[in-house]
Amino acid sequence: MVARPVPADWLALRRRADHRAREDARDLLELLTDHLRTRGGDELVVVDVGAGTGSNQAWLAPRLPGRQRWVLVDHDADLLEHEPAAEADDRITTERAVATVEDLPALLPRDGAVLLTCAALLDLLSEAEIETLADVVAPDAAPGAAALLSLSVTGEVALMPGHPADTAVTAAFDAHQRREGRPGPDAAEVMARALRRRGARVELRATDWVLAAQDEPLLRRYLDDRAAVAVEHDPELAPVVREWLEERSRQLEAGSLRARVGHLDLLSLPPETVDEGAGAAPRSR
Ligand SMILES: C[S@@+](CC[C@H](N)C(=O)[O-])C[C@H]1O[C@@H](n2cnc3c(N)ncnc32)[C@H](O)[C@@H]1O
Repeated sequence: MVARPVPADWLALRRRADHRAREDARDLLELLTDHLRTRGGDELVVVDVGAGTGSNQAWLAPRLPGRQRWVLVDHDADLLEHEPAAEADDRITTERAVATVEDLPALLPRDGAVLLTCAALLDLLSEAEIETLADVVAPDAAPGAAALLSLSVTGEVALMPGHPADTAVTAAFDAHQRREGRPGPDAAEVMARALRRRGARVELRATDWVLAAQDEPLLRRYLDDRAAVAVEHDPELAPVVREWLEERSRQLEAGSLRARVGHLDLLSLPPETVDEGAGAAPRSR
């Protein structure tokens, strides 16, 4: 069942900012491509969980080496119906599977080179779903897969200039993300711990959105949605949030609002294949 459908137009709005942010984790991509070249193999199977309309594939596929068979997985069949996002490239084939995170153990091939990837998904998942993902990436009795899990929100949101209601809006939004015990803004760190417990080598990098006047349509939608979620979580905040949103809207019209929205990218590699020097690189945020 789709608990909270993600609108396709929201995914279109955020795509450019997502792709720009991922450039900050280019070193993770280099570690990953080095690993994949070492593994060799005829074809890489790339399983993109929560693929939506294919933004992750559009960014990542051209940056990966060799032939790739992409499996776009989402529990929302409507989103998967969008046209393939990757530019025509005869190295790449694409399949779609309407399935959930819980279905992954059955979907993932057991042999051959596999990359599990997602973008903007981890912070939506329950702790049980994060454990399931960790199990398929780093199983007890198999070598495991590489994983690139991108753009998980961290809850760190800086709007400039500041507003007295920023803290209340953030608290209500984050509390909503943490509903029913979800890790929400801690999801990337929770996943990193789950993978390290299973012996994987994990690197995290900050991939924040940095938004300014030219990102006005995305910023406006982001703030509208943030306000709606805050009020849904705490209806008593409605008057404060309305005033906050009106002020933010005036700033957007004046082109004077900037924002940094915290995200983390996570790379996980099987332990035996990670170069010690590269794996010891300090985490940068
Ligand atoms: C914020 S969107 C990101 C979509 C896409 N990865 C992107 O970067 O544009 C999250 C996506 O995950 C899907 N999703 C959420 N929970 C899921 C689950 N438990 N199993 C499969 N898909 C899920 C949603 O339908 C949605 O397409």
